[in-house]
Amino acid sequence: MLLRIIDREGKEHELNVSPASTLMEALREFDWGVAAICGGQCACATCHVYVAPEWINRLPWPHNDEHELVMHLQHWRENSRLSCQILLVSELDNLSVTLAPEE
Ligand code: FES
Repeated sequence: MLLRIIDREGKEHELNVSPASTLMEALREFDWGVAAICGGQCACATCHVYVAPEWINRLPWPHNDEHELVMHLQHWRENSRLSCQILLVSELDNLSVTLAPEE
């Protein structure tokens, strides 16, 4: 499946990834600063992304833990999500996200 990623320098990338991993797992393979310190435990927010507006309502609603964590980030926006909580399923083919600035 294809992902469209805008890195922290504003460069666009297209990634071909296998479904069934998380978005964070796909992003941390690259040198874009997605540290994912907690390993996907929804505890560090270093995997913060902004989901493209046309996609935000097509993702499953965030769990309370994710919502609480992301709401308190300095760079929070309405389309903020933690990429470790987004499972890459085929319905998300062509998903577009922008990496949020480092906190
Ligand atoms: S990897 Fe830590 S919150 Fe996502």
